[in-house]
Order: sequence, then structure tokens, then C-alpha cells
Amino acid sequence: MSLHETREIAPCHFVIFGATGNLAKIKLLPALYHLDVSGHLPPEMTVVALGRRPWTDEQWQENLLESIRAAVGGHLNSRVYERFARRFRYLSGEVQDPAFYQKLAEMTCNQDACANTVFYLSIKPSDFGTVIGRLDEAGLNKPRGRHRIVVEKPFGEDIESARLLNRVLHEHFDEEQVFRIDHYLGKETVQNLLVFRFANTLVEPLWNRNFIDHVQITVAEDVGIETRADYYERAGALRDMLQNHLLQLLTLVAMEPPPALEADALRDEKVKVLRSIRPIPKQALHAHAFRAQYGPGVVNGVSVPGYQDEAGVERNSVTETYVAAKFYVDNWRWRGVPFYLRTGKRLAKSQSMIAIRFRHPPQQLFRETPLEFLEPNWILLSLQPSESMHVEIHSKQPGLGMQTHTVQLNASYRHGHEVKLDAYQTLLLDIMEGDRTLFIRFDEVEWAWRVVDPILKHWATQREFIHTYPAGSWGLAEANRLFDKEEQYWRNEL
Ligand code: BG6
Repeated sequence: MSLHETREIAPCHFVIFGATGNLAKIKLLPALYHLDVSGHLPPEMTVVALGRRPWTDEQWQENLLESIRAAVGGHLNSRVYERFARRFRYLSGEVQDPAFYQKLAEMTCNQDACANTVFYLSIKPSDFGTVIGRLDEAGLNKPRGRHRIVVEKPFGEDIESARLLNRVLHEHFDEEQVFRIDHYLGKETVQNLLVFRFANTLVEPLWNRNFIDHVQITVAEDVGIETRADYYERAGALRDMLQNHLLQLLTLVAMEPPPALEADALRDEKVKVLRSIRPIPKQALHAHAFRAQYGPGVVNGVSVPGYQDEAGVERNSVTETYVAAKFYVDNWRWRGVPFYLRTGKRLAKSQSMIAIRFRHPPQQLFRETPLEFLEPNWILLSLQPSESMHVEIHSKQPGLGMQTHTVQLNASYRHGHEVKLDAYQTLLLDIMEGDRTLFIRFDEVEWAWRVVDPILKHWATQREFIHTYPAGSWGLAEANRLFDKEEQYWRNEL
């Protein structure tokens, strides 16, 4: 999958910590089911679902069916589902309890040796350290060549805690065993970005400061924080989305071509971009970062409460659910080109895209004609809901006068009848295959924390006030203060 040809997957145990949680329900379990449908899971593969709820296997099975039904609607393949459901065992326990790991070892090891095992940590980041240590105590990190551990983001909550977590990981696991996941790297458009940039001669000469005015990266969601207040209150949009997903997208837009399509070659180039991002000085923070929180409003015709009225959120919380930031990549290719990043919950619609705006033509040849102000060209790469690519150019309208219109060259690469792969399908398969190309190396995490660190530190001192935007809107006009030029604006639609 991903960037490489599919290899044979060795039979393995797939162990999910936090199997009754939100991520497992909406992403991991459906992704495993789809992989079973497409024949990618080895017949012997088993899944051990771990959770705190004292469920029996039967209760687990009911929960599993409900999650898969919610994901596939009426399209449940009952023949495959039977096989899929038989793969599962449920084990309940507390992550601190050593006996829990003994039971897990009994379930995943036979007398001779442990089979290949993937441990997926879909749990609160504060429990990562405990689980990692306990797995080692129970001997579940060995044999090192065959056991893998997957750590969900955010990796730490700032640079120090990320370093600490990494030290703990390396005390108990080798780097080759570690998969730091950022599911945005498994999205089709993200992988297509590499093809678009490096397989087309047409694009490369334009991809620099001479032609590009600015880059916008937007991940807008219409959902709120759902049942994740416990996690989100500590994280906020900056840690939850910008430090990882959005900065990863930035690196792929900005990086130089790697010498080979290999995990480390690609990561080296991404790190160079992160290292080239200009640190934001304290006095410039106001002009570089903006945060806000959703108030009550109407999303898709439904009234929804504000963030502070969500269950589990503190009344005077200043946790941001919207963040916009401006970065400069100080290298020969990008010096002076602003990268505007923004993400928010409870926005007008779910729309994620990379929008690249080109410069105006150097000569205003059509100034004396009835033409209105000519909008520069854009390249729009949509990640979701549609996976598509558009190039906006100007063309003359047929007729006597000199009237133009904007034409979108549409290079959508998925057609209605084609099956849409979820990012987690791609990435789970990569983990089982041992392909780390689309996973994050620690220096990427570390540099990404360095990039956002000044913003985090500044906001940590501003505990009194946060702007509020109505749920269902596109945020607030205050975020426009980030723009370098008056003519720049947020591109909300394709
Ligand atoms: C997760 C965040 O990493 O990504 C969530 O923790 C967010 O808050 C989600 O909703 C968005 O993912 P996607 O694939 O739906 O864009």
C-alpha cells in the first residue's frame, strides 16, 4: 500500500488499547473490517480488544457490530463479517495493573515464541508511559524484530514532554518497532501531492517564491468536540491539529524532492522544512497567531451548544477550538511566502484543502479594457470531503467584448463509483507490513513542537480571555490580521 507495492503480511496479533473508545469505534475497527473485505488480512490474524469496561465477549461483539454497521450503513458483507468477528477477543482491565499484561501475554504468546504483534495505543496520552513500561515488564516488547507499537498523536503536549515520552519509548522499544502515526499522511490527496509535485514537469518550475504569493492550508470541521472534553480541554486545536496534521501538510507542500522514495529520505526533507520555519518572536505573536472558541450556533440547520456548554468542559475554559497561524519558511525556495494555516471545529462545513495562490501577472495588459480586477491563479487541492485538484485560470468569454471568466481545470482523480479508502486502512496495512514511510520520525515531532512552542507559551499566560465565534460560521474577521496584504483572504470554497 501507500508508496510501495503490497507485500505479504505475516500472520499477527493486533492488540488495541482503548478498543471501546471513540477512535477505535469510528476509525480503527471499520478500517480493519474494510481490509478484511478486500482480502488484505491474513486468515490467522487475531485482534485483541482491550478496554476498562467489564464486558463479556458477547457484549464486545454487540459493540463491534454496532460500530461496523454505523460505518458501512446497509452495506454489511455478512459472510466477511462472520469471519471478521471471529478474529476478536475482548479483555478488560486497568492499564496500570501488571496482571492485565500477564493475561494479554497468555492470549498472544504460545509456548515456543510470541507471534508478530502490533500494539496500538488508542488511549489518553497520559497513559502512554505506563503502558509502554508494563509491556516491557511482561516481556511483550520482544522479540524486537516482530513486535511493533503504534503511538497516536499528539506525541507529548510540548517539546519537553515529547522528549520524555520518546526516552521512555526507547528504553523499552527499538526505533524500528515504533510507529508514530499521523493519519493525515494516509489520506489520498496527501500522497497525491507528492505525485503532483514530483511527477509533473509542468508544476515544479512554478513551485517557488517567484510565482507563488502565498499558501493556505485549511482543515475545517463542522463537528464539535463530541465526547472528548477530557482530552480536548488539555489539547486545544493547536496541539490537536496544527502541531501535527497541518504542519505535516505544510512540509509536503514545501519540501524539496527526496533522493529516493524511502522512509528516511522523505523524512529528512520534511525535517529540513520544519527547521527552516522562522521562529516567531514574542512581539510578533499577535500578527502570527489567532485563537478562538465556538459559542452556540447553528450547524447544518441544527442548533448546537457552545464549547463551554459541552459536557466535561470548564465554564471559563480558554481552550481554543479554532487556530489560525502564519509561518515563513526561510529557504531559497520559499523566503517571503506566507503559509497561512487554520483549523477549527463547528465551522460552517467540513472542508479541508491546500490552496495555493499565484502572483499577479507582472504586466496589467488588460487594465484599459472592461475587465474587472483579475484574480490571480489558484491551485486547489481538496483533501475532503472530495478528493480533487483544481487549477483556476482566466479565459475569454466568447463574444465581441473583452470579458473573461475564471475556468477551473478539474483534475479530480476519484470518480463516484470508485471505493474511497480511509487513511487508516492504508496506515494499518503499512504497520502490519512494517513500512514506516508514512510515519513520523522523532526529529519531525521535536521540530514541529519548536515551531508552535512560542504560541503555546504565549497563550499559556493569557488565561483571561478568548474570542468566541458562532458555531456554524467561518470564524472571525480578526483572523484576517494575519494577512500580509489587504487583497489576501481566506479561501473557504473550492
Ligand atoms: C484527529 C483529531 O487527529 O483528527 C480530531 O484528534 C479531528 O479532533 C480528526 O476531528 C480529524 O480527522 P479527519 O480525518 O476526520 O479529518
